[in-house]
Amino acid sequence: MNKRYTIVTHGCQMNEHDSEKISWLLENMGYEWTDYKEESDFIIYNTCLVRENAELRVYGQIGALKSLKRKNPDLIIAICGCMMQREEVRNVILSKYKHVDIIFGTSNIHKLPQLINRYEQTGKTIVDIVEDNREIVEDIEANRKYSFKAFVNITYGCNNFCTYCIVPYTRGRERSREPESILEEIQELAERGYKEITLLGQNVNSYGKTLGYDYSFARLLKEVNKIDGIERIRFMTSHPKDLSDELIEAIAKLDKVCEQLHLPVQSGSNRILKAMNRKYTREDYLLLIEKINKAVPNIAISTDIIVGFPGETEEDFNQTLDLVKKVKYDSAFTFLYSIREGTVAANMKNQVPDEIKHERFQRLLDTLYPIFYNENLKYMDKTVEVLVEEVSKNNENVLTGRTRTGKLIHFEGDKDLIGELVNVKITTVKSFTLEGHII
Ligand code: 5AD
Ligand code: SF4
Repeated sequence: MNKRYTIVTHGCQMNEHDSEKISWLLENMGYEWTDYKEESDFIIYNTCLVRENAELRVYGQIGALKSLKRKNPDLIIAICGCMMQREEVRNVILSKYKHVDIIFGTSNIHKLPQLINRYEQTGKTIVDIVEDNREIVEDIEANRKYSFKAFVNITYGCNNFCTYCIVPYTRGRERSREPESILEEIQELAERGYKEITLLGQNVNSYGKTLGYDYSFARLLKEVNKIDGIERIRFMTSHPKDLSDELIEAIAKLDKVCEQLHLPVQSGSNRILKAMNRKYTREDYLLLIEKINKAVPNIAISTDIIVGFPGETEEDFNQTLDLVKKVKYDSAFTFLYSIREGTVAANMKNQVPDEIKHERFQRLLDTLYPIFYNENLKYMDKTVEVLVEEVSKNNENVLTGRTRTGKLIHFEGDKDLIGELVNVKITTVKSFTLEGHII
């Protein structure tokens, strides 16, 4: 019988896609996927360090594996991802979680088969980290979760150093993949029947800056738009400071680029934006939104917002509430500010007390939810194109899919439609989902 593996993934799409690569490497070694840790021969945690709760959860989950390892001493336990890029975290794992066998970081995933072999030969804990990750390894394939939509990396790392964020320290300096290599990968996906591509990077808008020749993100979109078979192009994440007019025009003109933009604002207060080192003002941001709405009518705009950044006053927070009402977001990821050691904001003196953070967080949600609902109301009785994704977890006769604007939608249909584009008429609208029927 083949050996079995399981992967637990925390964090962002970048990690999700890295896990798809890990899965491909393991299956090439003869491993087979299992949903159950109890019957696994190899368990790997792909970790996130962006907020403290993601970090703490991993310690809890890794601790719980101790008894499994006792029952099955041949079980191999590995940890990778952003947490492992920090020496102090690795030291905690090495000293307190001695049942962990393999530790590696964010830019040496391709070495996993080698690391497993070395562990099997020596039985010694393996630590393999690249501290200064500047290299791009182009040749790892991925065992993608879906057969019709795929993530494709275009940039790695980040140079922005927002003062709250640990990513520049865990994923290193920004570097762009060569356009030929990206386009080749997408061409191949299109030939295999993939219809939707999501271009991934910490800040896709600055794509091309490290290539050494003139090549912009808008140009990359134009090239991807030409690939036959690809029907939908998405991308994330965009930094407002780099969202150029050229890019807005590309989103407007290119037929396959979806009417959707994730544009993290983080705060609506100029004082806080400055302290966060975001390099734009609320006025700049609102002007961008105005331009985008004009160029791409019906575009769905989503965002990330941090509540309780050090020094945030009631007045600053009200500026955030005011901004979200002005923008009228379609959806938003909201976060309580979390201290990340090693970042500039971690040493700021005026940290906001937890009760105030929680109270503001609730007020933000109370403001956002009716806005989401109102934005969704615009879809009532309309017919939209949907890419069918899966059977609903709660009802086997119901399918779920997404509109071009990224809205999650439920409708009745046969599972043979998964991976197809269908037209759905919307009959019910909620804050987070739409419902309808195929026409
Ligand atoms: N605390 C809270 N939220 C954070 N984010 C990044 N760092 C922190 C932090 N220290 C959020 C930002 C970012 C998203 C991916 O995570 O909003 O856009
Ligand atoms: Fe973090 Fe800012 Fe880079 Fe995004 S742009 S990864 S928030 S440092």
